[in-house]
Amino acid sequence: MKQNVQRFVVANWKMYFSHAQALNWIEKNSKMLQELQNESNVSIIVCPSADSLSYIAHKLKQTTIMLGSQNCSAHENGAYTGQIAAQSLSEIGCKWCIIGHSEVRTACDETDLVLQSKIERLFEHHLSPIFCVGEKQEEYQHKTAQKKLKEQLAPLQRVLERQHQSKTVAIAYEPLWSIGTGKVASNDYLQELFGIIEQSMEPYQKQHSFVLLYGGSVDEINAVRLWQIPQIAGFLVGKASTDFQLLKKIVLSTRG
Ligand code: 13P
Repeated sequence: MKQNVQRFVVANWKMYFSHAQALNWIEKNSKMLQELQNESNVSIIVCPSADSLSYIAHKLKQTTIMLGSQNCSAHENGAYTGQIAAQSLSEIGCKWCIIGHSEVRTACDETDLVLQSKIERLFEHHLSPIFCVGEKQEEYQHKTAQKKLKEQLAPLQRVLERQHQSKTVAIAYEPLWSIGTGKVASNDYLQELFGIIEQSMEPYQKQHSFVLLYGGSVDEINAVRLWQIPQIAGFLVGKASTDFQLLKKIVLSTRG
């Protein structure tokens, strides 16, 4: 089933690196990252924190590694202190932007309307969202994850309904209780939830392209069994993506 699927590994560095550390990482590893991408045929997307985006964009210019942002503003421009416009991301060279990550949803109290606007801003500037969804621990325990995912996908669906051109969207399913905890659900459970995502996005598939990613404590060991989930085309990786050797093993675990 995965033979003809373009595979993706997204490195979400969160705020693990200072500016100098991020620069140092990219200086040291960009050549090897390119070799890894060539050898594996996996599309690698690096998402550093905002302060390092420009410099890393510059460093990656000689490569075909893609750059992503960890967030963007819901506004086009104006008096929004501390925010980053989608237009700037596009000018810097980002192709992707993480939207609705649970750490941002929580810290910024993001509403569906805000998420919708962010996706719209990205589309206006020809960026693709990496739209994150996932249930909390209580929702997992109360078996309400399916309902939660359907609700979380609604803002994305509303934006897609209004698009006249074809868009590429990555949807990252990251159960919140798996992020940074080392706890990962069974493949059966994840497969069922990815099934819900597939079903929910089915009406949009004629016009748009979707890339389904799993995120939450992905490491070099569990990546092998997670890759067996039929619907996924790759991973959204946090902590492990800051270690080149671990990232490499994760990339290489996504065999066709
Ligand atoms: P970890 O891989 O560190 O659990 O983080 C997952 C995540 O939130 C990626 O966006």
